[in-house]
Amino acid sequence: MSIVLNPHVTTLKESSTLAINQKAMRLRQEGKKVYHFGFGQSPFEVPPSVQEALMQNTHHKQYLPTLGLPELREQICAFYKSNYGYSFSPESIIIGPGSKELIFQAVFVLEGALIIPAPSWVSYGPQAHLRGKQVVAVPTKRANGYKLTPEELDATCMNLISDKQKILILNNPNNPTGNVYTKKEVQELAKVCKFHNVVVISDEIYSLVNFSDEPIHSFMLEYPEGTIVTSGLSKGFSAGGYRLGFLATAKELSPLIDCLKAMISETFSAVSAPIQYASIKAFSLEDDVLKYVQSCTRIHKAVGKYMYKRFIDMGLNCVEPHGAFYLYPDFENFKEKLEKIGVTTSTQMCDMLLDKAGVAVLPSEDFYHSKYYLSCRVATVDYDGAHVYSESLKVDSLDEDFLKKHAPNIVDGCDAIEEFLKNLN
Ligand SMILES: Cc1ncc(COP(=O)(O)O)c(C=O)c1O
Repeated sequence: MSIVLNPHVTTLKESSTLAINQKAMRLRQEGKKVYHFGFGQSPFEVPPSVQEALMQNTHHKQYLPTLGLPELREQICAFYKSNYGYSFSPESIIIGPGSKELIFQAVFVLEGALIIPAPSWVSYGPQAHLRGKQVVAVPTKRANGYKLTPEELDATCMNLISDKQKILILNNPNNPTGNVYTKKEVQELAKVCKFHNVVVISDEIYSLVNFSDEPIHSFMLEYPEGTIVTSGLSKGFSAGGYRLGFLATAKELSPLIDCLKAMISETFSAVSAPIQYASIKAFSLEDDVLKYVQSCTRIHKAVGKYMYKRFIDMGLNCVEPHGAFYLYPDFENFKEKLEKIGVTTSTQMCDMLLDKAGVAVLPSEDFYHSKYYLSCRVATVDYDGAHVYSESLKVDSLDEDFLKKHAPNIVDGCDAIEEFLKNLN
């Protein structure tokens, strides 16, 4: 018998972020020194009181309502009202097994082409392809911090003028660049979205990892009638493996919530009950959790800024990070030298970095850039989070000496890239 498979799925490859993680782990197991800057997982422990809450809730064995536990949805509303000023109501929040699945489901039910600023997170495009949806990647400029401008968005929408509806997905703070949109930038983009009837999926999974000078400003505050917010426990609360995310809209988008509710009831039914009960603690606004999250963000900031400075000093171009735990340096200044050793694409460059320098990073090709653009995504989390966290509480400054002592892979990995560049002729 020859099995016939859905062509939208057979053309899909394994997510490159998961693949690089496995490759780096394998090389490490074989005894090779690898600086693992490929996988973006928060290295810290889950806040202790959230772990405690999980242990106390293991007896919850019943299926929970499709939209999620009502107390949790109420708590998320309170958290977002207090921290960000959003006016969600519990009826328009959906709990899912990670925000990734909820983004997938939202893209699945919404009609219209998906606009993705390049660079953007690796999974948006493949998710849209699974639905056979048109993906429009809009190249952004390094000079603009790789942020989408209103002019770029407007021009893209004009090209899609015959589509009744368009979808923009925008991640802020940003993976892969570490940049954060200012209030003014969000306001200007929101105006264009309103004008062109663009539904915005505002991926705010890194909103607690913000070290810019401003609080995060969301499309939800400027354009609630057209905005879908997604976030969850994975990044700010360092609990990716708990698999809990949420999607929230204003009341105007209630038909979307009804549609998703039906879809969820026919697919994953509901998220694990103990995890939902424990998550109430994460969003509780209690001081211990908030302080813990702030201390983790302080470390993300120190490591991100350190690596950024090292990259600039060694001659790479890079946008300064203001949030999340990534950098997006490019090697364009070394293009000719790299060409001489047969490196013309970002994938070849990343293979070379892993082979010659032992540094695992992801090629910009996976982030919707041309394969000839010699850039890559660097995750800044290759250290023992529990150790660095406890040491960080003892000192005022998380300087280079601190990182050398407590996060040596960060410093040594930068040295290895610098050495690799010095050896290019
Ligand atoms: C930009 C971005 N969005 C969404 C996600 C999905 O997060 P989760 O499904 O763990 O909530 C990730 C995870 O890496 C991400 O980097």
